[in-house]
Amino acid sequence: MEKKFKRTTVTSALPYANGPVHIGHLAGVYVPADIYVRFLRLKGEDVLFIGGSDEHGVPITIKAKKEGVTPQDIVDRYHNIIKDSFKEFGISFDVYSRTTSKTHREVASDFFRKLYDKGEFITQSSEQYYDEEAKQFLADRYITGTCPKCGAEGAYGDQCEKCGSTLSPTELINPKSAISGSKPVMKETKHWYLPLDKHEEWLSKWILNDHKEWKTNVYGQCKSWLDMHLQPRAVSRDLDWGIPVPVEGAEGKVLYVWFDAPIGYISNTKELLPDSWEKWWKDPETRLLHFIGKDNIVFHCIVFPAMLKAEGSYILPDNVPANEFLNLEGDKISTSRNWAVWLHEYLRDIPGKQDVLRYVLTANAPETKDNDFTWKDYQARNNNELVAIYGNFINRTMVLTQKYYNGAVPERGELTDYDKQTLQEFADIRKNLEHYLEIFRFRDALKEAMNLARIGNKYLADCEPWKVIKTDEARVKTIMNISLQIAANLAIAFEPFLPFSSEKLRGFLAMPEFKWNDLGSIDILPTGHQTNKADLLFEKIEDDVIDAQIKRLGGIKKKNAEAAAEAEAKAMAASWKPEPVKEYADFEGFEKLDIRVGKILECTNVPKSDKLLQFKIDDGMGGRTILSGIAKSYPNPAELVGKQVCFVANFKPRKMMGIESQGMIMSAVNSDGKLVVISPSKEVANGCIVG
Ligand code: 2FM
Ligand code: ZN
Repeated sequence: MEKKFKRTTVTSALPYANGPVHIGHLAGVYVPADIYVRFLRLKGEDVLFIGGSDEHGVPITIKAKKEGVTPQDIVDRYHNIIKDSFKEFGISFDVYSRTTSKTHREVASDFFRKLYDKGEFITQSSEQYYDEEAKQFLADRYITGTCPKCGAEGAYGDQCEKCGSTLSPTELINPKSAISGSKPVMKETKHWYLPLDKHEEWLSKWILNDHKEWKTNVYGQCKSWLDMHLQPRAVSRDLDWGIPVPVEGAEGKVLYVWFDAPIGYISNTKELLPDSWEKWWKDPETRLLHFIGKDNIVFHCIVFPAMLKAEGSYILPDNVPANEFLNLEGDKISTSRNWAVWLHEYLRDIPGKQDVLRYVLTANAPETKDNDFTWKDYQARNNNELVAIYGNFINRTMVLTQKYYNGAVPERGELTDYDKQTLQEFADIRKNLEHYLEIFRFRDALKEAMNLARIGNKYLADCEPWKVIKTDEARVKTIMNISLQIAANLAIAFEPFLPFSSEKLRGFLAMPEFKWNDLGSIDILPTGHQTNKADLLFEKIEDDVIDAQIKRLGGIKKKNAEAAAEAEAKAMAASWKPEPVKEYADFEGFEKLDIRVGKILECTNVPKSDKLLQFKIDDGMGGRTILSGIAKSYPNPAELVGKQVCFVANFKPRKMMGIESQGMIMSAVNSDGKLVVISPSKEVANGCIVG
């Protein structure tokens, strides 16, 4: 039987404060959580929406080191940027705090201490890399070396970015400390572990039997973790950034970021409600929901529940509606490659269009599988759906109401069968909309809300009040009354999804407040109620706006490709050795080759070829054309014009891409794989022999 809860605690993953947030964050976690919370609030339910920044962990210390600032500087900067972005997008947190807060430090320490006192941890010693110069243990990311899988230099202790392999630091060949550059040594260290294996039995039953309703992507991931069996997990680290492990003998050790971060939900609740926070976390009549992305599933469905259970006084999550990932224009969003639409940049470049992004990200949310965001789709959804359907209906309704009744809601007469049929359709929509929201299917829920706008549009188009006004004024009053009631319904139905537009529409209609319970009613606006003059609810987005964004991404792609090529060349150069010398050759063989010097008069790319350059050479004998496959080594061929080069003059002419090549330009293959043309060390006569 469905459990009846008194209140709901909604958490959304605490983003790392080591960079700004992007559309992937919004689509995966914050917009869905916000839609759900707004829905509950409109229904008048007791709900708390908890957010905050995750400010510990190794990546933050690495970024600080790179920039020569402190980790606190980094998190101060990004916490504020992230917080502002969420506020601008209408993510309606009741609290947005941070894991460097005093409250959090206390709550997380106490939590650890309680588990420690109850004997819920085990300790284990293991050998880990230690930097003797820097006098510290090295986190996996702080060790670099040669990848054992692909041979690339600069692989990290946890992953090779070249081939994508997951590594452990001891697998690296020639490991080096990223802090001092020295060779790390193995040293024993002790850590506290949460013995997840001891929790496996109840976790299996709780998830696999009692929570079959969880989304299939979530349930499936949990099942595969449980099938592989759980191992103890370290909850401490040797690091100087984080919350110190609050027990004796733990000098230089901090809580593992994934231990303290979820406790941040509790700390932030306590910060908001110092006197009444416990009911939101400990009362079995509270429903706890975690909104997260798929990379956080194991922590929220297995590790954090085990921590809560071990502590003993907390409730467990009732659901964990995790989403998959959003890609951008066909490629994985990546902070390090700057492949993202950053929220603070979107707000700067396309101001005032927060709801458009919320709409597109919800309509295309990665609820069951990874999805793709494209700027063309963004434009199409705005222009063809928000403007052409929803906006168009509201605009026509508001304009006609002003024109015929100076903005006052006209009296409704008797309903026709067609009116009744329309009203029945929109009553059904409320049912479906609620159903989808309740089961976290926000894409489908949004479609239902949009269907309501479609009904409105069709109603006006079918009833044609602008024609009927000439013959039947009373009928037009009814049509416009119903249209205005549909408009009021739309303001309510869209509030969870598009809060800014609903607020605007509420202003047009002069509605005092929104109540979810009014949805489906045709008595929201009383007869004679005065509406306001309206402007457009949505505006068309023109091609130049979209083209600018596509161009920006194109620039980033090009830069990334250049950086990758440069890194590859560097790696090649680092491992380069000269080729072994070939077998002895006869001098006669060499003599057969006629090698000359000539001056480059022209050098251009061969059309439709990315390899070939076409040279016009002054060979002292009237000139010749030579094609050479060195275009990739000379992206700017004009730089070669005026140089003297050596070329083989007596190869039989041959045609390539329809052009005859009369010889071969000689070049050296450099250690980075690039070709470099061979020139005499001082100017000589064109056509002279090399021998
Ligand atoms: O994946 C992340 O971005 C983590 N910072 C999420 C933490 S969620 C919670 F545990 F705080
Ligand atoms: Zn590799």
